[in-house]
Amino acid sequence: MLPIPKMETQRGKLYEADCLSILPHIPAGTVDLVFADPPFNLGKDYNSKFNDAVPEQNYLLWCEKWLDELVRVLRPGGALFLFNLPKWNLPLGAFLGKKLTFRHWISVDIKYSLPIPKRLYPSHYSLLYFIKGDKPAIFHPDRLPIKTCTHCGKEANDYGGYKDKMNPAGVNLTDVWYDIPPVRHAKYKKRKANELSLKLLDRVVSMASDPGSLVLDPFGGSGTTFVASELLGRNWVGIELESSAIVERFENINEDADYLAKLATSKNRLFTPDSLKLRKKFGHDTSKYRLNGHLEKPDLKLQPVLI
Ligand SMILES: C[S@@+](CC[C@H](N)C(=O)[O-])C[C@H]1O[C@@H](n2cnc3c(N)ncnc32)[C@H](O)[C@@H]1O
Repeated sequence: MLPIPKMETQRGKLYEADCLSILPHIPAGTVDLVFADPPFNLGKDYNSKFNDAVPEQNYLLWCEKWLDELVRVLRPGGALFLFNLPKWNLPLGAFLGKKLTFRHWISVDIKYSLPIPKRLYPSHYSLLYFIKGDKPAIFHPDRLPIKTCTHCGKEANDYGGYKDKMNPAGVNLTDVWYDIPPVRHAKYKKRKANELSLKLLDRVVSMASDPGSLVLDPFGGSGTTFVASELLGRNWVGIELESSAIVERFENINEDADYLAKLATSKNRLFTPDSLKLRKKFGHDTSKYRLNGHLEKPDLKLQPVLI
């Protein structure tokens, strides 16, 4: 039997437990999107709730156990995202490739360590994207604004005579994500050092689920996946060994809602409001672009939360 959830919201349930004790209770073929950001076996201190420095083979065998469960609970066409160091996603990707269909290895450009002697400077995390079956049931990637100078709003690339041909909804998302900011959270002491940016989860949840879809994250951390799901109108199931940071975060969810609303004004369009202001100020002509919809407020239905 499932334990009583630690927290329930309008859309989600959070279990404070080992994910391997909860996942077998989730019925097969019911989840639209799984996002998993496990500990990386780097010897970090996670309040001694588990050992983050085990022999490599043990770490991989442990990952395979919960990955098997995640594959089982996915719906046909459902999506699985696995965030990890390239070192681990290489063997785990090969493991998943026998069960799911590979879509992308997304490089998330974040420097995660100091330079290491005699090695290249590690500068990206791997975000593996697999689906169950041949075709994704849901796939609507966000489009991004043109890259512009943060001081004057001028284009970083020269679009020459093609300005009027550009999609007013923005440029295609690629499999290299350069625009994910690091997280600063000095204000909330309980938040975990490895919290991911809400911008990353907004992008994943928006791309591979619809309002009303079911999202699952077995390694909740500070609850970024759950906050994104709740605010974007997705149902969710979350698991975390030590969940007080998540409960505290939901008590202050309006701050995440404000950030998400700001993100919504800066995607699926050619220019962000800030770059449009700068362009005007510094006299960069914008009239050749088609800017349909740039003045409209995005259609973002942030859902009220009940705890
Ligand atoms: C890398 S963090 C996840 C961070 C999260 N994506 C965020 O944005 O805040 C991994 C989390 O997994 C939790 N964890 C480790 N082993 C677990 C297990 N067996 N079951 C559930 N949670 C676990 C840790 O407590 C840690 O908070």
